[in-house]
Amino acid sequence: MKFFIMFLTLALIQALVFLNVDAINSNLFREYIGAEFKNVKFSDVPINKNTNFHFILSFAIDYTTSSTPSPANGKFNVFWDSGNLSPIQVLSIKKSHPKVKVALSLGGDTVGNKFAYFKPSSVDGWVSNAVSSLTGIIKMYHLDGIDIDYEHFKADSSTFAECIGRLIMTLKKNNVISFASIAPFDDDQVQHHYMALWKRFGHLIDYVNFQFYAYDRQTNVSQFLRYFETQMSNYEGGKILVSFTSAAGGGLSPENGFFTACKMLKRRKQLHGIFIWSADDSKSKGFKYEKQSQALLAKSH
Ligand SMILES: *[C@@H]1O[C@H](CO)[C@@H](O)[C@H](O)[C@H]1NC(C)=O
Repeated sequence: MKFFIMFLTLALIQALVFLNVDAINSNLFREYIGAEFKNVKFSDVPINKNTNFHFILSFAIDYTTSSTPSPANGKFNVFWDSGNLSPIQVLSIKKSHPKVKVALSLGGDTVGNKFAYFKPSSVDGWVSNAVSSLTGIIKMYHLDGIDIDYEHFKADSSTFAECIGRLIMTLKKNNVISFASIAPFDDDQVQHHYMALWKRFGHLIDYVNFQFYAYDRQTNVSQFLRYFETQMSNYEGGKILVSFTSAAGGGLSPENGFFTACKMLKRRKQLHGIFIWSADDSKSKGFKYEKQSQALLAKSH
């Protein structure tokens, strides 16, 4: 009997190991928050208790906080609306919603109305500064993970891969974070950098927040599904999350069939989660599509 149970257990473990990660739906919902200083709070956003919910604070940037911010070689500062999204508010939303986790995103498009560049002076210096400054911020704010969203580069792809890979590896090893994601989009330079990172450190990256809203405004369902396939091959073995924007922007909008595409992916067991840019933009619209996204994810995933 003992041997039989052991055999069954081993068979079960083996079955789990061989399940392809590409073929599992998930109930993960993520939303960027805090970049636009529109007074949005965690508690404004509807949270479905049957989803796993990640807020992603936008952004921490390794730039100085002077009136003309300049690159600071891995020394990160808080650039999100920390008045409304403070350490106490992080604790409070996590306490009232046990499945909520909060991450911070690195980089972003602009800082002080200029592009925010990834611009390390040296790999060792950048990694060491980033580990210590981010560890401080993550602990102070009670955060759980990081997202990588550099969009402009003054360093080559192998330097980017080395810096970011070593940063994620160290923060995970030190138990400072439990998950990490990347946020690439369809642009040659951006993809070149993120795919170099994926090739070397993809095993440390839990989710790919692919910015599908950076595609053309007129994207339709069949194009969207084709783009999804392309990104599945670019980030092989990755959990590619689908996305739309509630700001003025491109991609496949809810009005043009975003949720139709999600249901098709769900039938194929490829719906690893949905994320939205951003809570700041959704606030004036009543978070209608946040509710719809989470209802779809929560329904017997
Ligand atoms: C989607 O857009 C492409 C390119 O514009 C077009 O060729 C295709 O017919 C469209 N598909 C549908 C279902 O509208």
